[in-house]
Amino acid sequence: MSRIHRYEGETIIVEFDLSRCIHTGDCSRDLPDVFNTKRSGRWVKPDAAPAVDVARICAQCPTGALRCISKSTSQPMDVAPDCNTVQPMPDGPLYVHANMTVNGKSERGYRAAFCRCGASRLMPYCDNSHRESGFHDAGNVAVPLSFRAAEDGKLAIKTIPDGPLMIQGPFVLVDAAGDEVCVNSGAAMCRCGASNMKPYCDGSHTSSGFQSGK
Ligand code: FES
Repeated sequence: MSRIHRYEGETIIVEFDLSRCIHTGDCSRDLPDVFNTKRSGRWVKPDAAPAVDVARICAQCPTGALRCISKSTSQPMDVAPDCNTVQPMPDGPLYVHANMTVNGKSERGYRAAFCRCGASRLMPYCDNSHRESGFHDAGNVAVPLSFRAAEDGKLAIKTIPDGPLMIQGPFVLVDAAGDEVCVNSGAAMCRCGASNMKPYCDGSHTSSGFQSGK
Protein backbone atom coordinates (compact mmCIF):
# COMPACT_ATOMS: atom_id res chain seq x y z
CA MET A 1 0.00 0.00 0.00
CA SER A 2 1.22 3.44 -0.92
CA ARG A 3 1.99 5.83 1.95
CA ILE A 4 2.89 9.21 0.47
CA HIS A 5 4.19 12.03 2.65
CA ARG A 6 4.38 15.57 1.24
CA TYR A 7 7.03 18.15 2.09
CA GLU A 8 6.21 21.62 0.84
CA GLY A 9 8.80 24.26 -0.01
CA GLU A 10 8.51 27.69 -1.59
CA THR A 11 8.39 26.52 -5.20
CA ILE A 12 8.33 22.72 -5.04
CA ILE A 13 6.69 19.88 -3.16
CA VAL A 14 8.68 16.72 -2.43
CA GLU A 15 6.53 13.60 -2.30
CA PHE A 16 7.90 10.60 -0.45
CA ASP A 17 6.37 7.16 -0.83
CA LEU A 18 7.48 5.33 2.29
CA SER A 19 6.38 1.95 0.96
CA ARG A 20 8.86 2.25 -1.92
CA CYS A 21 11.89 3.40 0.08
CA ILE A 22 14.58 0.75 0.66
CA HIS A 23 17.04 3.18 2.21
CA THR A 24 19.68 3.24 -0.49
CA GLY A 25 20.86 6.55 0.98
CA ASP A 26 21.46 8.18 -2.42
CA CYS A 27 19.41 11.28 -1.55
CA SER A 28 21.00 11.96 1.83
CA ARG A 29 24.49 11.39 0.42
CA ASP A 30 23.95 13.86 -2.41
CA LEU A 31 21.94 16.55 -0.64
CA PRO A 32 22.31 16.03 3.13
CA ASP A 33 20.91 19.47 3.97
CA VAL A 34 17.65 18.57 2.23
CA PHE A 35 17.36 14.86 2.99
CA ASN A 36 18.40 14.01 6.54
CA THR A 37 16.89 10.95 8.18
CA LYS A 38 18.66 11.75 11.46
CA ARG A 39 16.94 15.11 11.80
CA SER A 40 14.11 15.16 14.30
CA GLY A 41 10.78 16.20 12.86
CA ARG A 42 10.45 16.57 9.10
CA TRP A 43 13.34 14.74 7.43
CA VAL A 44 12.96 16.58 4.08
CA LYS A 45 13.59 20.32 3.83
CA PRO A 46 12.89 21.22 0.18
CA ASP A 47 14.21 24.78 0.52
CA ALA A 48 17.65 23.80 1.84
CA ALA A 49 19.07 23.60 -1.73
CA PRO A 50 18.16 25.02 -5.14
CA ALA A 51 14.89 23.53 -6.42
CA VAL A 52 16.57 22.26 -9.57
CA ASP A 53 19.01 20.19 -7.50
CA VAL A 54 16.24 18.77 -5.33
CA ALA A 55 14.28 17.86 -8.46
CA ARG A 56 17.33 16.14 -9.96
CA ILE A 57 17.96 14.04 -6.87
CA CYS A 58 14.30 13.06 -6.61
CA ALA A 59 14.33 11.99 -10.27
CA GLN A 60 17.38 9.81 -9.58
CA CYS A 61 15.83 7.96 -6.61
CA PRO A 62 16.26 4.38 -7.88
CA THR A 63 13.08 3.02 -6.34
CA GLY A 64 10.78 5.89 -7.28
CA ALA A 65 10.14 6.70 -3.62
CA LEU A 66 10.87 10.42 -4.16
CA ARG A 67 9.13 12.71 -6.59
CA CYS A 68 9.33 16.46 -7.01
CA ILE A 69 6.28 18.52 -8.01
CA SER A 70 6.45 22.09 -9.32
CA LYS A 71 4.05 24.33 -7.44
CA SER A 72 3.67 26.67 -10.41
CA THR A 73 2.50 23.93 -12.78
CA SER A 74 1.36 21.28 -10.28
CA GLN A 75 3.23 18.81 -12.51
CA PRO A 76 5.99 16.31 -11.63
CA MET A 77 9.45 17.57 -12.60
CA ASP A 78 10.86 14.19 -13.68
CA VAL A 79 10.78 13.17 -17.32
CA ALA A 80 10.71 9.79 -19.03
CA PRO A 81 14.18 8.52 -20.04
CA ASP A 82 15.20 8.54 -23.69
CA CYS A 83 16.09 4.87 -23.34
CA ASN A 84 14.52 2.35 -20.94
CA THR A 85 17.00 0.51 -18.77
CA VAL A 86 16.80 -2.60 -16.58
CA GLN A 87 19.61 -3.31 -14.11
CA PRO A 88 20.07 -6.11 -11.56
CA MET A 89 21.76 -4.85 -8.40
CA PRO A 90 24.30 -6.90 -6.44
CA ASP A 91 22.43 -9.08 -3.91
CA GLY A 92 19.45 -6.80 -4.41
CA PRO A 93 16.57 -5.74 -6.61
CA LEU A 94 16.03 -5.16 -10.30
CA TYR A 95 16.05 -1.45 -11.04
CA VAL A 96 13.87 -0.30 -13.91
CA HIS A 97 14.07 3.22 -15.36
CA ALA A 98 11.32 3.63 -17.92
CA ASN A 99 7.90 4.89 -18.75
CA MET A 100 6.06 1.79 -17.59
CA THR A 101 2.89 0.08 -16.56
CA VAL A 102 2.86 -2.63 -13.92
CA ASN A 103 0.10 -5.18 -14.25
CA GLY A 104 -1.80 -2.73 -16.41
CA LYS A 105 -1.47 0.30 -14.13
CA SER A 106 0.75 3.29 -14.94
CA GLU A 107 3.55 3.83 -12.48
CA ARG A 108 3.59 7.19 -10.64
CA GLY A 109 7.08 7.93 -11.92
CA TYR A 110 9.80 6.49 -14.10
CA ARG A 111 11.71 4.36 -11.63
CA ALA A 112 10.95 1.24 -9.63
CA ALA A 113 12.83 -1.52 -7.79
CA PHE A 114 11.46 -5.02 -8.26
CA CYS A 115 12.11 -8.02 -6.01
CA ARG A 116 14.63 -10.60 -7.30
CA CYS A 117 15.03 -12.70 -4.17
CA GLY A 118 11.48 -14.02 -3.85
CA ALA A 119 11.05 -12.90 -0.25
CA SER A 120 9.43 -9.46 -0.55
CA ARG A 121 6.17 -8.86 1.26
CA LEU A 122 5.41 -6.08 -1.20
CA MET A 123 5.53 -8.10 -4.40
CA PRO A 124 6.36 -7.29 -7.09
CA TYR A 125 8.38 -4.46 -5.51
CA CYS A 126 11.48 -4.83 -3.37
CA ASP A 127 11.05 -4.25 0.37
CA ASN A 128 14.65 -5.03 1.40
CA SER A 129 13.81 -8.61 2.40
CA HIS A 130 16.86 -9.72 0.36
CA ARG A 131 18.99 -8.56 3.31
CA GLU A 132 17.39 -11.14 5.60
CA SER A 133 16.81 -13.87 3.04
CA GLY A 134 20.50 -14.35 2.30
CA PHE A 135 20.05 -13.67 -1.39
CA HIS A 136 23.32 -13.58 -3.29
CA ASP A 137 23.79 -12.62 -6.88
CA ALA A 138 26.47 -10.30 -8.16
CA GLY A 139 24.22 -8.82 -10.82
CA ASN A 140 26.39 -10.03 -13.67
CA VAL A 141 24.74 -11.16 -16.87
CA ALA A 142 26.36 -14.47 -17.77
CA VAL A 143 24.24 -15.13 -20.84
CA PRO A 144 23.28 -11.94 -22.64
CA LEU A 145 20.10 -12.55 -24.59
CA SER A 146 19.73 -10.02 -27.34
CA PHE A 147 16.57 -9.82 -29.36
CA ARG A 148 16.53 -6.69 -31.45
CA ALA A 149 17.61 -3.09 -31.36
CA ALA A 150 15.94 -1.08 -28.62
CA GLU A 151 13.46 1.54 -29.73
CA ASP A 152 11.56 4.18 -27.89
CA GLY A 153 8.44 2.92 -26.22
CA LYS A 154 6.72 2.09 -23.00
CA LEU A 155 7.44 -1.00 -20.94
CA ALA A 156 4.56 -3.23 -19.95
CA ILE A 157 5.59 -5.18 -16.86
CA LYS A 158 3.49 -8.10 -15.73
CA THR A 159 3.84 -10.60 -12.94
CA ILE A 160 3.24 -14.24 -13.65
CA PRO A 161 1.72 -15.81 -10.52
CA ASP A 162 4.42 -17.90 -8.78
CA GLY A 163 6.68 -17.11 -11.71
CA PRO A 164 8.78 -14.42 -13.35
CA LEU A 165 8.43 -10.74 -14.05
CA MET A 166 7.58 -10.36 -17.72
CA ILE A 167 8.91 -7.22 -19.34
CA GLN A 168 7.47 -6.34 -22.72
CA GLY A 169 8.89 -3.43 -24.68
CA PRO A 170 12.30 -2.07 -25.59
CA PHE A 171 15.03 -1.79 -23.00
CA VAL A 172 18.76 -1.95 -22.54
CA LEU A 173 19.97 -4.46 -19.98
CA VAL A 174 22.68 -2.95 -17.80
CA ASP A 175 24.77 -5.09 -15.46
CA ALA A 176 25.52 -4.25 -11.84
CA ALA A 177 28.74 -2.53 -12.88
CA GLY A 178 26.75 -0.12 -15.04
CA ASP A 179 27.86 -1.57 -18.37
CA GLU A 180 25.29 -1.96 -21.13
CA VAL A 181 25.06 -5.68 -21.91
CA CYS A 182 22.44 -6.07 -24.61
CA VAL A 183 19.23 -4.72 -25.99
CA ASN A 184 15.92 -6.47 -25.60
CA SER A 185 12.38 -6.16 -26.81
CA GLY A 186 11.08 -8.30 -23.98
CA ALA A 187 12.27 -10.80 -21.38
CA ALA A 188 11.23 -12.96 -18.45
CA MET A 189 13.19 -11.87 -15.40
CA CYS A 190 13.67 -14.10 -12.36
CA ARG A 191 11.97 -12.92 -9.18
CA CYS A 192 12.19 -16.14 -7.17
CA GLY A 193 15.94 -16.02 -6.57
CA ALA A 194 16.52 -19.57 -7.81
CA SER A 195 17.39 -19.14 -11.48
CA ASN A 196 20.76 -20.38 -12.68
CA MET A 197 20.58 -17.88 -15.50
CA LYS A 198 20.00 -14.66 -13.57
CA PRO A 199 18.77 -12.10 -14.18
CA TYR A 200 16.59 -14.15 -16.54
CA CYS A 201 14.06 -16.78 -15.47
CA ASP A 202 15.10 -20.34 -16.34
CA GLY A 203 12.00 -22.10 -14.98
CA SER A 204 13.55 -22.92 -11.60
CA HIS A 205 10.61 -21.26 -9.85
CA THR A 206 8.66 -24.48 -10.47
CA SER A 207 11.09 -26.75 -8.63
CA SER A 208 11.86 -24.17 -5.93
CA GLY A 209 8.20 -23.97 -4.90
CA PHE A 210 8.12 -20.19 -5.29
CA GLN A 211 4.85 -18.64 -4.14
CA SER A 212 4.57 -15.01 -5.01
CA GLY A 213 1.04 -14.29 -3.86
CA LYS A 214 0.73 -11.83 -6.75
S1 FES B 1 11.11 -16.70 -11.49
FE1 FES B 1 13.04 -17.43 -10.79
S2 FES B 1 13.51 -19.03 -12.21
FE2 FES B 1 11.60 -18.25 -12.92
